[in-house]
Amino acid sequence: MEDANKLKEFEARIERGEKIEPKDWMPERYRTQLIRMISQHAHSEIVGMLPEGNWITRAPSLRRKMSLLAKVQDEAGHGLYLYCAAETLGVDRSELVGEFLSGKAKYSNIFNYPTLTWADIGAIGWLVDGAAIVNQTMLAKCSYGPYSRANLRICKEETFHKVQGYEIVCTMAQGRPAQRKMIQDAVNRWWWPSLMMFGPHDKNSPNSAELMKWKVKLFSNDDLRQRFVNLTVRQARAAGVTLPDPDLKYNPETDNWEFGEINWDEFWSVVRGNGPCNRDRMRARRRAHVEGAWVREAADAYAAKQRAKAAKSA
Ligand code: 3HC
Repeated sequence: MEDANKLKEFEARIERGEKIEPKDWMPERYRTQLIRMISQHAHSEIVGMLPEGNWITRAPSLRRKMSLLAKVQDEAGHGLYLYCAAETLGVDRSELVGEFLSGKAKYSNIFNYPTLTWADIGAIGWLVDGAAIVNQTMLAKCSYGPYSRANLRICKEETFHKVQGYEIVCTMAQGRPAQRKMIQDAVNRWWWPSLMMFGPHDKNSPNSAELMKWKVKLFSNDDLRQRFVNLTVRQARAAGVTLPDPDLKYNPETDNWEFGEINWDEFWSVVRGNGPCNRDRMRARRRAHVEGAWVREAADAYAAKQRAKAAKSA
């Protein structure tokens, strides 16, 4: 009975738009859903460093190299903010990373595609970070305080990511024929996987109903996807690139750009580990985890020493 009253009060707080903080009472499902979502978000940020890191040493100019370096470094920071946010729910990041490295936890489909040319860095900044901004702007208003604040900080940095990517797209689209061909090829390859980032259609989304009831998600997968398409069609036209969807059509009644059907077989195949780069990404992350063990051990030893010192002086 007591939990029923607590659930009622919790949901009243959510309705009033209050933020739930780590020490507040929350239903176990709210906690486990957040751990699932936040940890997978964090894993995605860290894996997301790999496709772009691939081009740091091959950037076409010092300016491009510097902005790509800054972006990849930001992604690492996003991962750390998000692991910290997940840890406020009573889990340890080593447990979360262990689930990722064992293949139990998911990460975003989008990072399992190859970055074949420099133009991919433009397409990723514009499309992938553009999609992430649409999603994360919503999450910055979610009901769980630490996740909302982490996304607020992330969105500020994502804006730079998208702008640097879009500038590359516009530069190449106005460039020589070979550059124009290269950027159009990259847009062709990244467009549909970027739409898949928003997840399955609402009717096939087992988590959305609960997440929306408790205002972790304020909009559905399909609503956010539509918002991203509407934004991006206009930007594509301004940049002078074509989106690879012959079914794209403006509907004046809904003020939406209608688009073709997503290849959900491809989506689920990539999510289940059979994308073009899944094995490479997991191999690289497992290797980095082993090679980085000494850093974790040193940090743990230092923290233990600090705790002992604090206990002694207490
Ligand atoms: N990639 C991989 N798996 C996905 C996915 C995607 N794009 N979309 C959905 N899935 C998985 C879900 O994890 C879920 O599986 P699970 O129950 O085993 O976890 C299943 O497919 C069903 O999907 P649902 O729609 O029911 O799942 P959610 O309600 O969790 O919605 C989501 C999926 C929209 C991705 C949501 O989890 C979310 O908003 N997550 C936070 C944001 C995030 O993770 N973004 C990833 C990209 S990070 C990024 O872009 C970095 C930037 O700097 C470039």
